Amino acid sequence: MKISVFCLGYVGCVSLGCLSKMGHNVIGVDINEHKNDLINRGLPTIIDKGIDILIKKGRENSLIRATQNATEAILNSEISFICVGTPNDKNGHLNLNQIKTVASKIAIALPQKVGFHTIVIRSTVLPGTAEEISKIIADASHKIPGKDFCVLVNPEFLREGNAVDDFFNPSLTVIGGSDKKGIDLIMEIYKNIPGAKRVVDLRVSETIKLLNNSFHALKIAFANEIGTISKALDINTHQLIDIFLQDNKLNISQAYLQPGFAYGGSCLPKDLRALNLIAHDAYLETPLLNSIEKSNNHQIDRAISLIEEFKIQNIGFWGISFKDGTDDLRNSPIIQVIERLIGKGYKVYLFDEQVNDSQLIGVNKEYIEKVLPHFHSLLLKDFDKLLNNVELLVVNKKGDKTVYKKIFKNIELRLFDLINIPELSSHKYYHGFNW
Ligand SMILES: NC(=O)c1ccc[n+]([C@@H]2O[C@H](COP(=O)([O-])OP(=O)(O)OC[C@H]3O[C@@H](n4cnc5c(N)ncnc54)[C@H](O)[C@@H]3O)[C@@H](O)[C@H]2O)c1
Repeated sequence: MKISVFCLGYVGCVSLGCLSKMGHNVIGVDINEHKNDLINRGLPTIIDKGIDILIKKGRENSLIRATQNATEAILNSEISFICVGTPNDKNGHLNLNQIKTVASKIAIALPQKVGFHTIVIRSTVLPGTAEEISKIIADASHKIPGKDFCVLVNPEFLREGNAVDDFFNPSLTVIGGSDKKGIDLIMEIYKNIPGAKRVVDLRVSETIKLLNNSFHALKIAFANEIGTISKALDINTHQLIDIFLQDNKLNISQAYLQPGFAYGGSCLPKDLRALNLIAHDAYLETPLLNSIEKSNNHQIDRAISLIEEFKIQNIGFWGISFKDGTDDLRNSPIIQVIERLIGKGYKVYLFDEQVNDSQLIGVNKEYIEKVLPHFHSLLLKDFDKLLNNVELLVVNKKGDKTVYKKIFKNIELRLFDLINIPELSSHKYYHGFNW
């Protein structure tokens, strides 16, 4: 296939070398003449394991060349990968100027081109960039998206130092967009690349790299803070982390990674606070660990503001324990929401299949009577009564078909789902908390 690669920086140079190894004809386009010259002499523009051999061989086999001439590259390729830099500007936003400049150059070339052209953004961008780039090209070239060209997103997941191997063995290939011609072309290029290939919404593909890198940064910061604490307390850091990593059910797993409502209960808040205080008492700074409770409280504040936006006085809460499947009300974040809404004058009704007023005992009973003194008068005995009394239902519990049917019968009921129940999402007035 004839491919153009816009820019010969890290990602561009690796793409050039790897695509040529797959047998494609690749033209690199960079504004930096020195980089073009290096490629045309069979030399890489970066240092990374194996890239020198790929560029040398690609050049010897006449599969690689570099130019400053964007129009010539567009006319001699059917697909363009854009890999230009997207550095932070002085306020920290991603600066998309390089990618917009490339879009303008593509727009100048396209009117001279017969046939469809696929443009693939490989740079890390912001949600909405592909649509913006498509518009820039369409406005300036008078070519029609979907008919003459398309803009797709295929984020690059390589790591410097291991880039060639990562290109050929990615954890996942993500393609954002819906243009079938373009997607088929990318799939053809990657047909021998292992790993799952997922076609997703444009905005998902534009955001995934930001998410990945933020999570990687979060993991590093977490591990370093644990190291800080364990070193100061003479705990074997390596053994501690090793044991932590061996739990693939709850720690290194999908557990706790679904957007939903705030955490609570008798363990997470207590033990997190204890760890933070251990650090504090040892005069250690652990800003990440310290920020977790703040972040969790913010979710509670958000839930309250969003509930208030409904401007409804009679609110029903279905599910009041700290998580589904228990009657434990201690540190239940929804109880905080309820308490604060009552304080603001809202009329509140509660229902939870698992919370039986007369069976609450011990600290659980003491806790709820202290936090919500009118708890007994607010808790209803059946779901139908709850539905009859309210105009807004806050969903904090999974139910079954019978319960969902009852909810759907209440056509005018406003729903605010805190825990993501897909079965309810087609209700006319369904609102998801974090989705
Ligand atoms: N470096 C990595 O490990 C890595 C990994 C994955 C994704 N990314 C993302 O990929 C993108 C590129 O990163 P990089 O590290 O390869 O960037 P880089 O800074 O190494 O390369 C950018 C290149 O773009 C060229 N350029 C600038 N404007 C141009 C234009 N108008 N036309 C042609 N060339 C132009 C520059 O001369 C330079 O060679 C970024 O969005 C980055 O976040 C980087």
